[in-house]
Amino acid sequence: MCALTKCVPFAASTASRVLECLMAAPDTFVSGSAIAATLGMSRVAIWKHIRALRAQGCRVDACRNRGYRLVGKPDLPTHDAVRAFLHTQKMGRALLFFREAQSTNLLLGQQAAAGAAEGLVVVADHQTAGRGRMGRSWFSPAGVNLYCSILLRPMVGLDRVATLPLVVGLAVARALETVAPGLGVAIKWPNDLHTGGRKIGGILCEMASEPDGVSHVVVGIGINVNLCRSRLPRALSGLATSLTMETRRTFSRAELLANLLDALETFYSTWCAQGLAPFLPDLASRDALKGRTVQIEQGGHHVAGKADGIQADGTLALRQPDGSCLSVCSGEVHLTGLDADEAAAASAPAASRQKKNPTLPYRRNL
Ligand code: BTN
Repeated sequence: MCALTKCVPFAASTASRVLECLMAAPDTFVSGSAIAATLGMSRVAIWKHIRALRAQGCRVDACRNRGYRLVGKPDLPTHDAVRAFLHTQKMGRALLFFREAQSTNLLLGQQAAAGAAEGLVVVADHQTAGRGRMGRSWFSPAGVNLYCSILLRPMVGLDRVATLPLVVGLAVARALETVAPGLGVAIKWPNDLHTGGRKIGGILCEMASEPDGVSHVVVGIGINVNLCRSRLPRALSGLATSLTMETRRTFSRAELLANLLDALETFYSTWCAQGLAPFLPDLASRDALKGRTVQIEQGGHHVAGKADGIQADGTLALRQPDGSCLSVCSGEVHLTGLDADEAAAASAPAASRQKKNPTLPYRRNL
């Protein structure tokens, strides 16, 4: 595992300020002395920062007597590249980038246990053991996708924390639609991002609690960005998609992450103050399951019905054939071809258990 950039302090790193100067004049040469004058440093120092940016994957042309020119947008989500796009106060101002990591959730969990501050982000270009929900692995090839984890320390009760993944989902949807206007991102309750009926991203929130409340939440986000259809494993074919597959364009992962952090910072502060209520209209308009016949699996139990919207407490309303409604807290949702009556009949034991206790239990993995 190799950290390309170490955790950097809050103050702007100089390389990212050099990058901002180049980004302010897209596809144009900017003289080294002009950058040096703007940033109050020597041309030799500027050259060193240009080399550092190149080592982070930025394409910077150098031409004698003309200066430096950035070609395209920086892609690799290093600290310098992300902060050149970032507008947040806190989220992502400290960021650890890894060329390779087992799992960004694992690394960030370790940082959290060691006392890291809220807003720390861990990003990897490649994960060797990316974690998905329900103990699954997350397909994490190098060079194409975004794998990041964000540390939150919400001072709210467990009930509200259970709704956090939905708000994160809205922030991811907002970020995707900012870089790809017109994409149309839906949320498949509880944690999946879909576009065109296929999964483009997933969220894995892992919480640590103390007797007096929540200690921290590691918000893990995986987004398929520049992944081509030919690199998709057969098992995911027809189920997964990427920004590139949807638009035939390539995207800057650094810009996407910065947009995500911008949206999340705003949404998170609203959610801390007011809970899920302000987000319900957006959730309703992005609800991929509304009116669909589904089967929900949790801990070996199945319950079926017709999805009837995301409720104020973040649970999924599941309409039963007799007209009653179950509130489902968590689980794996399968769309079924069966109508609600048949599906409910197929899962009668689980459904009757649900009626006695209409809310499924809270889980540590949100
Ligand atoms: C899902 O199963 O849909 C959730 C997938 C979450 C994957 C992301 S990738 C970054 C972070 N690190 C991990 O190991 N998992 C999450």
